[in-house]
Amino acid sequence: MSLVALIKGRRGESGFGYASTAAEVTEGLDLSGRTIVITGVNSGLGYESARVLSQRGARVVGLARTTEKAAVACADFGADAVPVACELSDPQSVRACVEAVRALQTPVDVLLCNAGIMALPERTLIHGQEAQFFTNHIGHFILVTGLLDALSDEGRVVMLSSGAHSWAPDVGIHFDDLSFESGYTPNKAYGQSKLANLLFARALARRLAGSGKTANAVHPGVINTNLGRHMPLAVRAIAPIASAIGFKSIPQGAATQCYAAVHPAVAGVSGEYFADCNQARSSRHSRDEAMGERLWTVSEEIVAAL
Ligand SMILES: NC(=O)c1ccc[n+]([C@@H]2O[C@H](COP(=O)([O-])OP(=O)(O)OC[C@H]3O[C@@H](n4cnc5c(N)ncnc54)[C@H](OP(=O)(O)O)[C@@H]3O)[C@@H](O)[C@H]2O)c1
Repeated sequence: MSLVALIKGRRGESGFGYASTAAEVTEGLDLSGRTIVITGVNSGLGYESARVLSQRGARVVGLARTTEKAAVACADFGADAVPVACELSDPQSVRACVEAVRALQTPVDVLLCNAGIMALPERTLIHGQEAQFFTNHIGHFILVTGLLDALSDEGRVVMLSSGAHSWAPDVGIHFDDLSFESGYTPNKAYGQSKLANLLFARALARRLAGSGKTANAVHPGVINTNLGRHMPLAVRAIAPIASAIGFKSIPQGAATQCYAAVHPAVAGVSGEYFADCNQARSSRHSRDEAMGERLWTVSEEIVAAL
């Protein structure tokens, strides 16, 4: 058996592994009565997660950049799916989304923060912040902190991080130059934003400790989705081939976040990082409590100034 086949076939303590799909990790679960809010529901891993979780009976509140995009996707997730606009780069849109979700007056059982952008070729600013940091982290920070008291007693927050969190600058979150006035590279900036997602999950887990509510982060694997849209043409051209040989499929890519979101084995588990549907070790910086607390304070300051 080849090494690749061995890695793909390996299963961890959870009984699931690299090749498990979202359908497999949720098999036999009855999620009726659960409300699951998902960002980026119209594409890739978000769409697949919503599709599978709704098939298991969950009511999906599907968030996308526009109501139209959310509505088109939600048409596939059952009659009770609720489309809501949430443009993460626009604080007004995120705040309106928070109000719309709260207005449903239903406890949120899962807040799956899945939306994201990757590797913008040029340094781009949104409200004075680097665009990936703002979209991937600050937008979700506003959403999650706005919905904390709407979480159900055992509500789970799941942040989409990435193995690429280790691409962040050598210092981790570069507080002295958060928006890359110097040294911008697409991967470093993406890495910083994904490190922020992970640090935020852990900082949130500390705040939720003892409440029954949890926060975790996941790396979904490497999957050929629309996430690569900003990558150089040459990379995009070979992605389907690389995908056929070595990447995860979208159903496999959605498995880890679905596992963290609803599997009974994860009940009460908080402040952890999951990959291939199992707990995994993340980078030194991602485990730096002081860095996570500083990020929280800086994020609050950024949001307060918007
Ligand atoms: N694919 C991978 O290999 C991989 C690896 C590690 C981590 N991840 C993470 O997995 C998550 C899902 O990515 P994916 O692979 O499924 O990518 P995708 O197919 O590109 O989906 C990303 C989703 O995020 C939405 N989005 C982007 N910018 C947004 C904004 N400003 N406001 C609201 N929504 C926005 C997109 O909406 P539009 O379609 O309207 O732009 C889309 O629904 C991301 O957080 C990504 O960082 C993916």
